[in-house]
Amino acid sequence: MVRGKNILIGITGGIAAYKVCELIRLFQKNEANVKVVMTPAALEFVTPLTFETLTRDKVFIEQFANVEKKPEHIALCDWADVFVIAPATANTIGKIANGIADNLMTSLACAFKKPFVLAPAMNTGMWENEFVQQNISRLKNAGYKIVEPEEGFLACGTNGTGRLASIEEIYDTVEKLFSEKKYLLNKKIVITAGGTKENIDPVRYIGNYSSGKMGEAIADRAFELGAEVVLISSVPFKKPYRVILAVTAKEMSEFVKQEFRDADSLIMAAAVADYRPFEAAEEKIKKEDVEEITLRLVKNPDILSEMCKIKKDGQNILGFCAESENLEENAKKKIIKKGCDYIAANDISRKDIAFSSDYNEMILIDKNLNIRHLKKDTKKNIASELLELVYDKDN
Ligand SMILES: Cc1cc2nc3c(=O)[nH]c(=O)nc-3n(C[C@H](O)[C@H](O)[C@H](O)COP(=O)(O)O)c2cc1C
Repeated sequence: MVRGKNILIGITGGIAAYKVCELIRLFQKNEANVKVVMTPAALEFVTPLTFETLTRDKVFIEQFANVEKKPEHIALCDWADVFVIAPATANTIGKIANGIADNLMTSLACAFKKPFVLAPAMNTGMWENEFVQQNISRLKNAGYKIVEPEEGFLACGTNGTGRLASIEEIYDTVEKLFSEKKYLLNKKIVITAGGTKENIDPVRYIGNYSSGKMGEAIADRAFELGAEVVLISSVPFKKPYRVILAVTAKEMSEFVKQEFRDADSLIMAAAVADYRPFEAAEEKIKKEDVEEITLRLVKNPDILSEMCKIKKDGQNILGFCAESENLEENAKKKIIKKGCDYIAANDISRKDIAFSSDYNEMILIDKNLNIRHLKKDTKKNIASELLELVYDKDN
């Protein structure tokens, strides 16, 4: 429901700017309050007069207006419940993805911490540009909702992907943000992410290929669903929730123990090294002095098993396992041995999913050995499905 919500619409300098009048009308018809901000380039395509008439308010364009009271970009950030940029040009997308704030719209975007929706529209060549796509991925990973452009006939006279998504689709994306049930409200969820690094000396370590993207996606989604999230990660993510940097398995173990005490759930998506060097050299090992090195490795704490042993009634634990063969069989053995409530198993022999990829596919096994197959999808969507399976969203 968008009724009573404050919707800030951003219009950038793209040919699809004229379509936004319909979007504004749709929000108003559903009793939302709308204000409009435009980039200076957008003025080349549509006039503020139309939007002033529709919103019965001034249109915000000037970066340096009203600074003596409260700067406009702060006042509008306070006012808005959601920021929707439609159409979003390649230029503005690039600026937002890189923290550039050189006009009112990008300054607002930089300061805005609430739900953010971007509906890109541009020529196919621009949309397919490698750097535009990198910027889009970056924004998606940071939690921005991207309403993907459609394929069709474009204003430049060609057919291809780049046309602004339908007004209904943009509207539905915003509506969903407000109607989604926050079924993880009042739950504290501790999530681990990334591969641990076990020092050999101050510059070298034993590590693995885990990027932390799966744990990050789960943490982002749990946060969206209202949970109090603590992400314990070997990758230093910058997030609107608590992130604790834990580089080694020992550090991760300590932080997990501390945080799990009063938590409802633990999700162990990190790839924790099974072994570490018995002793890390204090100074860098010089290759001139040493012809051959034999590393003696000792076992790291098995965080998942330890937490499963101390978990109290009402707490649940989801472990992950990465297997390169006999996925189902090995995952079943692992859930029985560790005693966790769920195990999510990834097939790491596949190059198109899991480690470092933005995609994943997995099986989820519960303690009664029921199996669910989560089909190949973005880690973001897999995270969403995983949380729905583990938590009862109707309760
Ligand atoms: C006729 C015309 C149409 C344009 N259409 C688009 C478009 O649909 N998408 C886009 O990303 N850029 C488009 N551009 C380029 C942008 O206007 C240009 O990158 C501008 O700097 C965007 O500024 P802004 O992001 O601050 O609004 C167009 C340019 C012209 C001259």
